[in-house]
Amino acid sequence: MCGIVGYIGNNEKKQTIINGLKELEYRGYDSAGLAVMKDGEMNFFKAVGKLENLSNKCSSFSSEGYGFAIGHTRWATHGKPTEINAHPHLGQYSCVIHNGIIENYKEIKDKLEQSGITFLSQTDTEVIVQLFEFYAKDTDIFEAFKKTIDELRGAFAILLITKKDPNRVFFAKNAAPLIIGKNQENEIYFASGDAPLIGLCEEVIYLEDLSLGYASKEELAIFENHKLKQNSFTKLSGDKAFAKKDGFRFFMEKEIYEQSRVMSEVLMGRINGDEVVFDELENEDLSTIEEITLCACGTSYHAAMASAYLFERLAKIKAKVEIASEFRYRDAVIKPNSLFIVISQSGETADTLEALKIAKEQGAKTFAICNVDNSNIVRLAHLSLLTRAGIEKGVASTKAFATQVLTLWMLAIFIAQKKKLDISTEIKALLHTPNCVKVNAKLHEKIHRLSKRYLDGHGFFFIGRDVFYPLALEGALKLKELSYLHAEGYPAGEMKHGPIALADSKLYTIALMPKNMLYEKTKSNVEELIARDSTVLSISPLEFDLSDDFIKTNEQSHYMCEFFEMMVITQLLAMEISIRLGNDVDMPRNLAKSVTVE
Ligand code: F6R
Repeated sequence: MCGIVGYIGNNEKKQTIINGLKELEYRGYDSAGLAVMKDGEMNFFKAVGKLENLSNKCSSFSSEGYGFAIGHTRWATHGKPTEINAHPHLGQYSCVIHNGIIENYKEIKDKLEQSGITFLSQTDTEVIVQLFEFYAKDTDIFEAFKKTIDELRGAFAILLITKKDPNRVFFAKNAAPLIIGKNQENEIYFASGDAPLIGLCEEVIYLEDLSLGYASKEELAIFENHKLKQNSFTKLSGDKAFAKKDGFRFFMEKEIYEQSRVMSEVLMGRINGDEVVFDELENEDLSTIEEITLCACGTSYHAAMASAYLFERLAKIKAKVEIASEFRYRDAVIKPNSLFIVISQSGETADTLEALKIAKEQGAKTFAICNVDNSNIVRLAHLSLLTRAGIEKGVASTKAFATQVLTLWMLAIFIAQKKKLDISTEIKALLHTPNCVKVNAKLHEKIHRLSKRYLDGHGFFFIGRDVFYPLALEGALKLKELSYLHAEGYPAGEMKHGPIALADSKLYTIALMPKNMLYEKTKSNVEELIARDSTVLSISPLEFDLSDDFIKTNEQSHYMCEFFEMMVITQLLAMEISIRLGNDVDMPRNLAKSVTVE
């Protein structure tokens, strides 16, 4: 995820910004930049890679004395991690940094290009500074800034500075965090999270959505929905570790709670009316594909499995799923006219990378679904879509899985559209998914209470049908990774073919019972287990008195909405059980975040 830091005051500005950005390093980034305004003069520096590279770039530059500065760490979402694409983005006399995604950047870019403006970068951010200067030609500077912000759709935290008004920093915020801090030395700071402000500011304002304004040495003006607001500062807490987790106990917990926002970001700019649009695939003809092979490891493999159901159901393309470590040694045959999709959070997993090389050598068209631009997997594949999850710190994958499944579902719809197939119910459901993963405090509390009943036993079976089978596998994987208890995912209908022999009161069954996918069939399978005295926790929108424990989900009109809601429940359950067992939630034993060995 990108990071923002801004500063107004007398300190050495370059260093203040770099120090602040260092506090946001844990969020991940692939390039960085800063701009300093002092005595009406603007200097800027950008570098690919670590902040050290940026530091080296501006080592001979000094910025003592009153002035202001803005800085940014970028996690690529539109355009490669290059110096041109790094922030700040420059116009003729202004520059901007931005977190989030501008959903309508293409429309704005087209309009500006028609009036003769040339763009340097591939980013969505550059439209902000170009649009601002377009309006600033014949209007007052703050008016031009307001007009610019009013035209943007999407998520943004923005800082803009301009030589035409060299005494003010302009800012705006919608659906991406932006904080303003102050101290007794009359310094003003901006940041996209608490961490850079701790120890430097005593008081802060957490800007609300749809707010904008400007700050100078003398004045801080914040407008919310165009109305000037009274500035109400609150005291800043002093715990840096806590701040880095946004106040959550663990990174994993933070990442579970973040899922709603990141899923909105996955959708941003990719839904137009009742269609899925992928700029990245504009010139690709995917309608002639006859077969899809999906290949991945671990959690990404479960995302692949879930999407295979969707490719067949929606796009009517035969889809098979391969575990990368198996695929690479089994002399697999890849048919011509088939698409080979690899899925990877890190983009560096050795087995997946090797499988991708084999498929490419065999002449398959290859496609990466990945969270990290410029990773080995993205660079090697013919095509790629970024999952926009932001950095995932918890070793056990949560938001990365959610964004993989969502992106793959969109890809299935995209191909179905190209084949003129009926996808009429899908778009509404897609747009609803960020609501389905919002964590409700009452639900979390209930899962916390229930978790104490599931700390022993001789094993867990997570069961489900259709896409709820890969979700069951993923729920079981989360539980075993975090709790070190034995857990398996199983197709609900398959239990009677063997595993039911294990059923007794110390066998815990977590039953995924969606209303919109084979409810009655799954219910019968659960009843078979209840008849053998298995202890059952069922998760369903429909009351089910026979089970020992029950978590009621919301009535949804699409099974994928139920999928995502149940996904959050299984994640929280695994986390709460693990906390009770005293395990390290963020760094479970024996596991690594990126598996670059065989
Ligand atoms: C489990 C988990 C792993 C990864 C697997 C593949 O929570 O995170 O199972 O999914 O190691 O990693 P990527 O997706 O980076 O290829």
